Amino acid sequence: MQNFRYYNPTRLYFGRGVVEHLPEAMNGTRRVLMVYGGGSIKRSGAYDDVVQALRQAEIEMVEFPGIEPNPRVGTVRRAIQEARAREVDAVLAVGGGSAIDAAKGIAVGAKSEADIWDIVMGRAEPASALPLYTVLTLAATGSEMNKNSVLTNEATAEKYGWSSEWAYPRASFLDPYYTRTVPKDHTVYGIVDMMSHIFEQYFHTVDNTPVTDRQAEGVLAAIIETAPKLVANLEDLKLRETILFAGTVALNGTLSMGVIGDWATHNIEHAVSALFDIPHAAGLAILFPHWMRHVHHVRPKRWVNLATRVFGLDPSGKDDEELALEAIDWLADFWRGLGAPSRLSDFGIGEAHVEAIVEKAMARRGPFGQFKTLTADDVRTIVRNAL
Ligand code: NZQ
Ligand code: ZN
Repeated sequence: MQNFRYYNPTRLYFGRGVVEHLPEAMNGTRRVLMVYGGGSIKRSGAYDDVVQALRQAEIEMVEFPGIEPNPRVGTVRRAIQEARAREVDAVLAVGGGSAIDAAKGIAVGAKSEADIWDIVMGRAEPASALPLYTVLTLAATGSEMNKNSVLTNEATAEKYGWSSEWAYPRASFLDPYYTRTVPKDHTVYGIVDMMSHIFEQYFHTVDNTPVTDRQAEGVLAAIIETAPKLVANLEDLKLRETILFAGTVALNGTLSMGVIGDWATHNIEHAVSALFDIPHAAGLAILFPHWMRHVHHVRPKRWVNLATRVFGLDPSGKDDEELALEAIDWLADFWRGLGAPSRLSDFGIGEAHVEAIVEKAMARRGPFGQFKTLTADDVRTIVRNAL
């Protein structure tokens, strides 16, 4: 194992009705900036419950709606101005990963003299933040219990992740009931996203990691067992509950203990969605099997474990390579069976766009990826195969 430190300060409230505990978690808050997206929180019931809880606690609300999926830095800058002008003393995100990621930028940006994009790009370091709270309504990113945020600069068509200890939510409220209104496409995207987060951590080259590996395999198996049932029955709260919990565990640091994740496919996908504004996990569903085929010769035993322990494939009569390729096909079929897209051309992306994607993916730090370092040629091959 790699040496590691683990610290996660987010207090998690999970289950039906937990939003009633918002006041105790936000104790001492006088005025909060409530950040949300395009209005799904009114259909899911989250909005009414949050407003009621805040009123009871006599916390004044300043609403900031309109956070777009793939949240934009221009919107975050406007919200920072609003937070300062209205002198809020906390930020509350209600929604999916986009609302939460934007709220992280707002909480950090409101307390910093530097522009938030300079913080995203690592040109400035945050030294403080407004306290951040979240009510999650979509199972996918894990942003509710991690220090990551992904913002898009619409002026330069750049989409980058950034990370700061100051960006951890102080408390996050996860009620499966609010996720029952997530439509089929975003339910599937969420499932693909959380599975991809596990793969990004599972495909590592560190030795002697059976505890972390088995945890990852267990969470993957639970998602695989639950996902088809949920897609067939979107209002089943037990299935929603399982998927909601899985999304948090997939990216709250637990599955990174002692290993070094890869994150190459996320890097390529962020280049694609920076240029084409497609849903993050639609891009992952398309790209991940092609990344896998490109690197399947690295650490053959990991692929065998995935095939046999997680996907339940029969190894008899097959060598490691055959089993690896069968596992990758199995995954691509599984995602397609749920309704995920499988080709970039489904989004109008073709050969003419390949070089722009490669350039964007390489722009920040050159070759990337831990499981196998990808050069521009590798990225070109993966993207071409995904067209
Ligand atoms: O805007 P509203 O009206 O709320 O609608 C949203 C949006 O259209 C809707 N939605 C959310 N909850 C709903 C609902 N619709 C009905 N019922 C509900 N209960 O779903 C749509 C997508 O929402 P969004 O927040 O964009 O989705 P997601 O949670 O997948 O977040 C995606 C963003 O997170 C980033 C992605 O790149 C993308 O920008 N990521 C963040 C990560 C992190 N912070 O750790 C890691 C991820 O890898 C990812 O990159
Ligand atoms: Zn992701």
